Amino acid sequence: MKQKFYITSPIYYASGAPHIGHAFTTVYADVISRYKREAGFDVLFLTGMDEHGSKIAQKAQDAKKTPQEFVDELAEKYLDLWKKLQIKNDDFIRTTSERHKKGVKEFVEKLYQSGDIYSGDYEGLYCVGCENFILEKDLANGFCPDHLQKPETIKEKNYFFNLKKYLPQIKEKIISKELEIFPESRKNESLNIIDMDISDFSITRERVKWGIPFPYDEKQTIYVWVEALMNYVSALDFPDSEKFNKFWPADAHIIGAEINKFHTIFWPALLISVNLPLPKKIFIHGLFTVNGQKMSKTLGNAINPIDLINKFGSDATRYLLLSQFSALEHGDIKESEFAVKYNADLANGVGNLFERIFSMFLKYGDNKKIKAEIFDLEIKKALDENFKNYDSYINDFKLFEALKEVFYFVRYLDKYINEKSPWVLHKENGSSAELDKILSDLVLAVEKIIELFEPFMPAKMEESKDFVDKLKSGLLNTENKLSLFPRI
Ligand code: MSP
Repeated sequence: MKQKFYITSPIYYASGAPHIGHAFTTVYADVISRYKREAGFDVLFLTGMDEHGSKIAQKAQDAKKTPQEFVDELAEKYLDLWKKLQIKNDDFIRTTSERHKKGVKEFVEKLYQSGDIYSGDYEGLYCVGCENFILEKDLANGFCPDHLQKPETIKEKNYFFNLKKYLPQIKEKIISKELEIFPESRKNESLNIIDMDISDFSITRERVKWGIPFPYDEKQTIYVWVEALMNYVSALDFPDSEKFNKFWPADAHIIGAEINKFHTIFWPALLISVNLPLPKKIFIHGLFTVNGQKMSKTLGNAINPIDLINKFGSDATRYLLLSQFSALEHGDIKESEFAVKYNADLANGVGNLFERIFSMFLKYGDNKKIKAEIFDLEIKKALDENFKNYDSYINDFKLFEALKEVFYFVRYLDKYINEKSPWVLHKENGSSAELDKILSDLVLAVEKIIELFEPFMPAKMEESKDFVDKLKSGLLNTENKLSLFPRI
């Protein structure tokens, strides 16, 4: 039987159009999913929308729409983007769906039965942008530093979750790697938060109407972050279903650094409280700024992924998002680099290499003579090394590093071609067994590169594969060219 692999992205707020931050994480999870599917796993890749809360209700009101109309439109926008980016998600959960509400109700009932919920009063500052309470000391001149908004003072009755009770257990599970958080820097962040002795958190809101009712007090709705986390199980038809039994616990949650605390502390505590196993791995990628600045509506510097797709195409956009910085750290994406990298890596790099090899093969080779395997030991060695590193990078979710690895091989082949100079051999001796071997090796090497790039640039690699198949069947001649990434 196939081994299962359940991977999730965050569910995105239905509060505005998707930007490249959202595209980044979703492409990230998609590449890992594709790789795992190809490696024979039974993959379930979940993404979706986070559609409740006062921020969204407010935005809907500003747009003169009902919250439901508003989130429906945004869900369509996201779905359209995922289609254009070739995201092969197996499911799409929306927190306004009945299945989600049902799962959340079941989960909250179990929490209540576990005795971990108690009522109390809460007075504090609330930032609608964060959908969270914020401490005085974290404000910058009275404003939330992330949303540049003044928080509201809120005093209300809330129901609290007994988080403190679980902190020692969570810490132990993180240290023992039963709950694996990586990279290390993010794991240390989680451990530091635990050591700061954080307080219990409220799991309901009295004033937020756009939410899922709290079953034990009709005046309250469930705190949007709490129900959002539950999407990872509601999408599996929690609590009792074949799907749930098969896929839970998640093998990997992929998230951005700013939502670390919710995933590595709150979520595990909620799960332990209802006796569910914890996710196996949480990969927390760094956040990027754009041209050195945080992306924000106010600054108007959020890049629309659709613009990138229109300019560079879907595959190149996937590549360009993942290739500018290592997700192990925070990074910066420079808009001007997109075209530079496109031309250097894709047009003049991979595209040119493929074109060059195919046209030499058609020009100088006896085009049916592809050997069963690569002949040249030197290429074989380089390739084996490459595959080994690539596999371990992807299994560690280091996609930037995996891509770099493939490019070593692309450059290696460029050098190899220049050294062997098939055109000189052809000029000097015409057709020869030696030339045939070189050309056959090069085509086989391209096939390997296609395999490596496939999860990253699926459509272009499919196109390349078709071309190679035809080439191998002798169906092509020197007139046939594959133009993968035209220069921009
Ligand atoms: N709805 C919550 C998540 C709930 S998950 C149970 C949320 N939504 S969000 O729309 O704000 O999306 C946040 C996520 O988008 C980040 O965690 C990250 O995955 C991605 N990114 C948003 N901005 C980003 C960057 N600047 N850089 C990289 N990824 C970014 O939080």
